[in-house]
Amino acid sequence: MELKVRVALPTDLADLIALDAECFPKGNTDLEPAPAGEIETGVEDGGVFAAVDENTVVGMLQFDKISSNEWELLTLAITNSHRSQGVGQALMERFFVELSQSPYIVTVSCMTSPSNHAMQGLLESFGFVQVGLMENYFGPGKHRLKFQLN
Ligand SMILES: CC(C)(COP(=O)(O)OP(=O)(O)OC[C@H]1O[C@@H](n2cnc3c(N)ncnc32)[C@H](O)[C@@H]1OP(=O)(O)O)[C@@H](O)C(=O)NCCC(=O)NCCS
Repeated sequence: MELKVRVALPTDLADLIALDAECFPKGNTDLEPAPAGEIETGVEDGGVFAAVDENTVVGMLQFDKISSNEWELLTLAITNSHRSQGVGQALMERFFVELSQSPYIVTVSCMTSPSNHAMQGLLESFGFVQVGLMENYFGPGKHRLKFQLN
């Protein structure tokens, strides 16, 4: 694999939207697709990183700077064929470069399903800790664990 991680461009939008649909299928209680327009806004704001293997987008990470010292990790999605090969880790490392460039101590939050052990393992490996259970966060039965860094 020849992996490159870079800021996503408007020309990546169709690939990013397809990746979101693959990784967050509608009707799955544990995986919530991005709300309409969120990926487009993120790309416009420079808040999406794309992981590219041989010119194909294989992963994405989206974050939102809610304020100067409060950010949210909105999405991390790796295409099925490229999971468990360090792509999520590479995107998180790029996110941490962005974090290190902030002049402030930034608190980062991230919501994930109680059954999403892969995401929980990844977050914990980067120092995130579980701070609470948000019941019915995305609607009835769609509970989420809140993870936080700093
Ligand atoms: C969760 C997800 C982003 C992980 O990405 P990935 O590229 O497969 O993860 P990596 O190979 O980079 O693994 C990095 C670390 O994450 C953790 N991890 C990854 N897969 C794991 C699994 N199946 N079980 C437990 N921990 C796991 C481990 O700590 C791993 O480090 P290690 O390999 O040294 O043990 C990916 O599985 C995915 O896209 N899933 C579907 C969408 C999703 O659930 N997104 C998160 C929504 S909040």
